[in-house]
Amino acid sequence: MTSVSEAVERRRSCRAFRPDALSKDVVQDLIERSLRSPSGGNVQPWRIIAVAGEEKDALTRMAQAELFSNPKGDDDGYPIYPPGLQEPFRSRRYQVGEDLYAALGVAREDRPARYAWVANNFSFFGAPVGLFFVTRKSFGHGQWAHLGMLMQTITLLAEEQGLGSCMQEAWAVVRKPLHTQFNLDADEVVYAGLALGHPDVDAPVNQWRSRRASVAEIAEFRGF
Ligand SMILES: Cc1cc2nc3c(=O)[nH]c(=O)nc-3n(C[C@H](O)[C@H](O)[C@H](O)COP(=O)(O)O)c2cc1C
Repeated sequence: MTSVSEAVERRRSCRAFRPDALSKDVVQDLIERSLRSPSGGNVQPWRIIAVAGEEKDALTRMAQAELFSNPKGDDDGYPIYPPGLQEPFRSRRYQVGEDLYAALGVAREDRPARYAWVANNFSFFGAPVGLFFVTRKSFGHGQWAHLGMLMQTITLLAEEQGLGSCMQEAWAVVRKPLHTQFNLDADEVVYAGLALGHPDVDAPVNQWRSRRASVAEIAEFRGF
């Protein structure tokens, strides 16, 4: 049995998957168990839309067409990063990109290769299943944050089963067409996607680890 510590330690964003399908039962069970995630006031400010097969492929085609005509997406007031991301956050973001492209062997100046890689988000990096996390525009920052609890629980439960996952805010650039595709009501909004499947452990992109700030940088201890 995988301990929580092992799942936390082993989990990493998986960006290459084997094509093996996941049954609806497996995905449903994962979601069912993840619903024990906490949320303030037990509001459970979320909905999940799981896609596979032709439904998933149709989203890939939609996103590719959309990105071709509108590469940056519409400004819907929910940018992935705030404009003018401050230090040290800006450098951390930059660093993870550099580390990722180094693992892929893509040079800094090779912009076409970098864009091509980003486009892989929209085929879920080859994963057989995509999850979309839906919340509400009328919710406050608290409820949006609580959605992260659910997402993290799913990734750890997936890890326990030997499955890989990658959260994907990249889908934010096609929020509008996703809204239409999923027939969401006016107040609903897709926050992010998540690729889910069996990891391709041999793929170079899955063989590096992102860095972390040290405890000394992010925590302070008082009164011990
Ligand atoms: C909410 C959220 C959205 C993310 N969106 C993307 C994404 O669109 N594409 C991607 O390749 N990685 C995405 N990531 C993965 C992060 O880059 C990754 O979690 C971070 O670099 C730490 O690496 P690790 O997950 O391997 O520990 C996302 C992570 C989170 C938490």
